[in-house]
Amino acid sequence: MEQLAHLYHDHLQVLNRRVSEITSRENLSGLVIHSGQPHRQFLDDLDYPFKVNPHFKAWLPVTDNPNSWLVVNGTDKPLLIFYRPVDFWHKVSAEPTEYWSEHVDIKFLTKADKVAEYLPKDIENWAYIGEHLDVADVLGFTSRNPDSVLSYLNYHRASKTDYELVCMRQSNVIAVTGHQAAKTAFYNGASEFEILQVYLSAVSQGENQVPYGSIVALNENAAILHYTALEQKSPAQRRSFLIDAGANFNGYASDITRSYAFEKNIFDDLITAMDNLQLQIINMMKPGVSYVQLHVETHYKLAQILLDFDIVSGDVQGLVEQGITSVFFPHGLGHMLGIQVHDMGGFLADDKGTHIASPEAHPFLRCTRELDVNQVLTIEPGVYIIDSLLAGLKQDKRQAQVNWNTIDILRPFGGIRIEDNVIIHGDRVENMTRDLGLNR
Ligand code: GLY
Ligand code: MN
Ligand code: MN
Repeated sequence: MEQLAHLYHDHLQVLNRRVSEITSRENLSGLVIHSGQPHRQFLDDLDYPFKVNPHFKAWLPVTDNPNSWLVVNGTDKPLLIFYRPVDFWHKVSAEPTEYWSEHVDIKFLTKADKVAEYLPKDIENWAYIGEHLDVADVLGFTSRNPDSVLSYLNYHRASKTDYELVCMRQSNVIAVTGHQAAKTAFYNGASEFEILQVYLSAVSQGENQVPYGSIVALNENAAILHYTALEQKSPAQRRSFLIDAGANFNGYASDITRSYAFEKNIFDDLITAMDNLQLQIINMMKPGVSYVQLHVETHYKLAQILLDFDIVSGDVQGLVEQGITSVFFPHGLGHMLGIQVHDMGGFLADDKGTHIASPEAHPFLRCTRELDVNQVLTIEPGVYIIDSLLAGLKQDKRQAQVNWNTIDILRPFGGIRIEDNVIIHGDRVENMTRDLGLNR
């Protein structure tokens, strides 16, 4: 924690420098960043779980306090307007005393609709950054989430500060603890639902605290890319397990996937092959390499695996060009990671907002940017037996290249994904996930 306190100061300086540059470029006095407001459920008196504005938690590890505000201009000490209502129904956030609190001026807001009293008087010169445009309107902001400011912030936040890297390593530490516990639960016969409980309990985070809905899939459910249904009952026969689950530390996400076979068999060998592929792709990462190139290279390596396992026939080039590998690996290689699981900025070529589209053949790729020092990304190749996509192959001559017997053998296992979180350094790639011993 001492290390965090020290690094936080430098982190704030970087954020202040960024605000200084973009506000002078855009002729603004500064930014007013809203943590957010609770969202009420339809015809109810209950709210959905609160999700803080990512631009707010970039400044402070405060993720659970709606109606709070940050006033920053890059020069003055940031002002935190911290919501502390008189409320006997809900928990009121304690007055902050953590390491970060001495670095900001704090004013307490007891009534959400009285915030104007604390905001700058020349509000028309400040930009509102947040979700609630109606609130911004009432407060008199004329500049609300300007594209130029958001592009600038999203582009630069790809480059993590040392403080952020420490947070992300810690987020990996927590998630890896959960993954180890979940793996044991799988081999001990737990159901999907039970495995999730084991995971959450090991990471000591609730379902609304982890950064995304955990994917815990047994057998053929592993082929459903965003499977979150969770069967309560254990399957009669236990074949495979895919877990895609992360954790949250100070608002920073980890996003890790592992795949397991219950027994030694062809599926287990396929996991080994995918594991090697994933490590080879990570080895290719360095500043200046395009993420698109890594994604395309993954398809070539996957084509070779599909041939080696007698899943398809043909040649590597043809399998990629005809879109056959895309049927088995339909999602992107990965994405930027940080205060959001899918951190913004993956498509930005520069801080003015120039967009680099994903290649037409790879529409789900979430990062088209060049790698650079201090970026944090996931690498998550996969291979799945997805009948709805295979049906497309059956429609045309490509079906002759598919070995449908092998498909039938693999179908009950669902699929494989292996996902690590890595940091790009000038001279090496740091694999935060593997460094913690979470191997296959
Ligand atoms: N867990 C979401 C993803 O891997 O991108
Ligand atoms: Mn994931
Ligand atoms: Mn991911």
